[in-house]
Amino acid sequence: MIPQSFIQELLNRLDIVDVVERYVPLKKAGANYVACCPFHNEKSPSFSVSPTKQFYHCFGCGVHGSAISFVMEHQGLSFPEAVEELAKSIGLPVPHETTQREQETRAAQAAGLPEMMLQALHFYREQLKHSETAIQYFKKRGVSGEIAARFGLGYAPEGWQNLEKVFPEYAQSQALLETGLIIENDEGRRYDRFRDRVMFPILNARGNVIGFGGRVLGVGEPKYLNSPETSLFLKGQELYGLFQARNAIRASGRVVVVEGYMDVVALAQHGVGYAVATLGTATTPTHVQKLLRATDEIIFCFDGDSAGRRAAWRALENALGALTDNARLLFLFLPEGEDPDTYVRQFGQAGFEANFTNALTFSQFLFKELTRDLDLTTDEGRAKLVQSAKPLIEKVSAPALQMMIRKRLAELTGLSTAELTTLLPSPKEPRAQETQRKSPQMKARRAPSLPRQLLRMVLQQPDLARGIQIEGLDDTSPDERTLHAVLALLNRDPNISTPPAILEAFRGMPEDTVLSEAIGETLAWEGKFDVAQEFQGALEQLRSSARQKRIETLLALAKTQALSPEQKQALTRELSAGRAP
Ligand code: UTP
Ligand code: MN
Repeated sequence: MIPQSFIQELLNRLDIVDVVERYVPLKKAGANYVACCPFHNEKSPSFSVSPTKQFYHCFGCGVHGSAISFVMEHQGLSFPEAVEELAKSIGLPVPHETTQREQETRAAQAAGLPEMMLQALHFYREQLKHSETAIQYFKKRGVSGEIAARFGLGYAPEGWQNLEKVFPEYAQSQALLETGLIIENDEGRRYDRFRDRVMFPILNARGNVIGFGGRVLGVGEPKYLNSPETSLFLKGQELYGLFQARNAIRASGRVVVVEGYMDVVALAQHGVGYAVATLGTATTPTHVQKLLRATDEIIFCFDGDSAGRRAAWRALENALGALTDNARLLFLFLPEGEDPDTYVRQFGQAGFEANFTNALTFSQFLFKELTRDLDLTTDEGRAKLVQSAKPLIEKVSAPALQMMIRKRLAELTGLSTAELTTLLPSPKEPRAQETQRKSPQMKARRAPSLPRQLLRMVLQQPDLARGIQIEGLDDTSPDERTLHAVLALLNRDPNISTPPAILEAFRGMPEDTVLSEAIGETLAWEGKFDVAQEFQGALEQLRSSARQKRIETLLALAKTQALSPEQKQALTRELSAGRAP
């Protein structure tokens, strides 16, 4: 947990133009800076960065946000990682309300674990150069020197204590033991975990070495030996190859998830650079979240046998809760006996990619599996289908997706949607935040509401809102609720003074969607009119329409019952206020 006040301070200290410029060359155009959008392919620049608003926006694909969201999206980092990265860039230490996991990571850093992992990587890579058998092994599997370098492939030589040459503290260091590079037996004797194996370093999203997988060169058990879970390495959270795949994922707009280290390497070797692998575990919700931060399309690629199908089903189950309406999940099954490595070596990039058109969509795969052993011509079969679909559908939080699955279920069972709803109540309120963020092109164009207009102006000049209160805003309207929340925030915290600072204060909250839309809508405004004056006008209009509503309510009430003295007083007050200048 990073304190909110620090996020604000960080945003105040950063200049978004500097930040974006670290990754994308910008050109000045009027008050703003422009570039070809790094998030979609385009020939003429529609990506705009506003130094006054500290905000970026692409008029082509609709991405927008603060310096923090830029680094998250562009580098595929999580929120805390992006904050860490940006803070480091201006020499600001990040204060933590620490979780246990963070404490562990920092303890690991303090003990020098990352440095040790890096030294081991260098050692294994160096050893590869000296081992003809290891070189031959990779050659035989079609791995070029370039790809070997890209993945940092190496070789752990035969022998029990080779790492002693790298680590003089081999015999005593507790930290070295904690890296998992060495093992201590019951007699306290230490030896290398990886011996006579080709080595696949595992990197985290920032490119730090957090673990290794080592393969026997011939046959032997286990075929792959992996680093144990350590304070640096949580298998359910990491994906092999993600760091190397980053650019290819962005360029292709998709990621392929495969099962093996060698699959990732072989795919990269043949031009499919956007592949990653889980680390001998099932795909977890964290994996899916991580991948959906990098792209909207995930293709799970499994062997065509029953084990592959089981693994695919587990991936589907674990993806349910992490899905957004923009997410496109595909399930691809290779012919029996093939894995991505053998397949791509035989048929090349084009041959591999040609399979994508036959891949099953999320809901196709879902219903194919759910109906596998059912006879849908019988009542019993259809009832079973509803029962087995129910817990899965309930986990889907993306509203449009959930609706489409329900519709499909209704079709398959012959139930009406109303009947289905009694069996399977639909979610009360769609969770808007994540799902809408990435699809601004889907927004209907209609005149903005008054609260929305006010919100835009407050975002343009946050100081306008200081000391302003608006009574009677309706909490069921997203625009009004958001305006109310922003006014409250600005009146509470004098340090918040830019649009991204406001946006970051609402990250992950329901207000997020309306806010980022409204900021996007103000980007082209720059000095076109007197915002302060417009604000006063709109404020007065809103107040008077709220007053009008109250008057109408009271008058309507008066038709059916006698008003209480307080209500009469209120009515008189409202009516005379309406006439005041
Ligand atoms: P596979 O057994 O499918 O091997 O394991 P592979 O990827 O095709 O390997 P090659 O082509 O024979 O070299 C898939 C993944 O499962 C994990 C590894 O992550 C491996 O990449 N695994 C497998 C282990 O961790 N240990 C093992 O003993 C086997
Ligand atoms: Mn294989």
